[in-house]
Amino acid sequence: MTAPDCSNFPHQDLVSLADWTAEDIQRVFSVACALKADREGFNTLLSGKRLALIFEKDSLRTRMTFDLGIQQLGGSAVYLDHRHERLGARESVPDMAHNLERWVDIIVARTYRHRHVAELADHASVPVINGLSDLLHPCQALADLLTLHEKWDGQLAGKKLVYIGDGNNTCHSLLHAAPKLGMHMTVCTPEGYEPNFKVMESARDAARAMGVSLEHTSSPQEAATGAHAIYTDVWASMGQEDETEERAAVFIDYQVDEDLMSYTDDAFFMHCLPAHRGQEVTAGVLDGPSSIVFDIAENRLHAQKAVMALLLLGQSAAPATTPELAEVNA
Ligand code: CP
Ligand code: NVA
Repeated sequence: MTAPDCSNFPHQDLVSLADWTAEDIQRVFSVACALKADREGFNTLLSGKRLALIFEKDSLRTRMTFDLGIQQLGGSAVYLDHRHERLGARESVPDMAHNLERWVDIIVARTYRHRHVAELADHASVPVINGLSDLLHPCQALADLLTLHEKWDGQLAGKKLVYIGDGNNTCHSLLHAAPKLGMHMTVCTPEGYEPNFKVMESARDAARAMGVSLEHTSSPQEAATGAHAIYTDVWASMGQEDETEERAAVFIDYQVDEDLMSYTDDAFFMHCLPAHRGQEVTAGVLDGPSSIVFDIAENRLHAQKAVMALLLLGQSAAPATTPELAEVNA
């Protein structure tokens, strides 16, 4: 199989999807689908490339899929466990960036503070990927939307995506991407847990430009009506463990259960995982026929392989295909 074209990609980093266009996101889908179709077939695409994985928080999916992903493309990964030492504590984030850029070709960072992953990207000369911050989770949104793209044969436009629960990092990255792809989106949160104002504003601009709706409501039944996909995430994110009990009381009416799913238009159920059965979702829904959570988890691998390939190879121009060259090559 011919390697997917990763040339001429306009980004060096993936810190946020706010500045990625629909075309950039579609490019990720097309490279991911090509890599997925022949998952062992491109084992020299990123030959010799070295990845640093810096994690301040726990991870199963993000760590595994980046590590396996770079290996499948011919590269290797080094894991830096920062769970017991915040970035910037031992040395400044810019100094860390200037060290790492001398040894590795690409960096993934999972940080508490969004500004730390942004600062790494600002100072490192090599690509930096946000593997989740307190504000955003862009790799998750790419895998989520890639999964819907597959389920609906590329027809995302006009579908209604509903996010129910905490207006958190996962919700923010979906807001950055789904309206641009022509999806209607409704966010449903209790009062006080709405998404970040700036993220909502940018999603509103994208929705306006695409002629689709972007709504916020505090009624789960109203939100779920006519939905084609229902998404939820944990009520207390990593770093908010102290608020777990208080949040469980606030979010009690926001559980995705069978009754709520009955308001939808035969919707898929989505969750970034890890999930808590009996809290944000019932076991019946999470383990039921409409759930696509493990398809999404699998697609973390394919979407991130595509992102790494586009960021690492995207600064090159596409191979020349002038008639003269074609003649010489014939
Ligand atoms: N969904 C997700 O990012 O999972 P991990 O926290 O296990 O990486
Ligand atoms: N919102 C969750 C996502 C985990 C993948 C968190 O930040 O903990």
